[in-house]
Amino acid sequence: MSVSRCVCPGSFDPVTLGHLDVVRRARRLYDEVVVAVLVNPNKTGLFTPQERVELLESELADLDGVSVLTFEAQLLVDVCRSTGAGAIVKGLRGETDYSYELPMAVMNRHLADVETLFLPSDPQYAQVSSSLIKEVARFGGDISPFVSPAVAAALRARFGDPH
Ligand code: PNS
Repeated sequence: MSVSRCVCPGSFDPVTLGHLDVVRRARRLYDEVVVAVLVNPNKTGLFTPQERVELLESELADLDGVSVLTFEAQLLVDVCRSTGAGAIVKGLRGETDYSYELPMAVMNRHLADVETLFLPSDPQYAQVSSSLIKEVARFGGDISPFVSPAVAAALRARFGDPH
């Protein structure tokens, strides 16, 4: 019996509840989901790739058929090839995401005939991004509705608790 597998790619610096919602919904569509932490060598992240993987793994530990891997300086289509995934699944929060994602989806199809499926973000996470979370957390704002307790603790540990 063949297994259907997709990749949920991202920077995940750090993972938000919006990301986790998309991975869980992707798992309902595919037998296996590979969460691919893709590291841009030109960007310094807040968390190391290994830290991002560990946070994702602990948040997704209850879900079978999900693995978390990290890739550096690799094309997403090569990640799809090496993991045997037939599709890419990404969340779409709105028009800005669409403008950013569409050229990549078209390019990935051109490069390796890999399709991208967009899942509309749950409205409660439609305004949540890792970069906004980091900015708010850096200055002591409350990010608890948008990230898991473990991620909130990791952010506090990184930035300190100003309260
Ligand atoms: O969470 P992000 O930062 O929006 O994720 C973007 C990501 C990592 C999915 C995208 O930059 C990507 O696919 N990078 C891998 C390199 C690659 O394949 N680039 C060409 C895309 S057409």
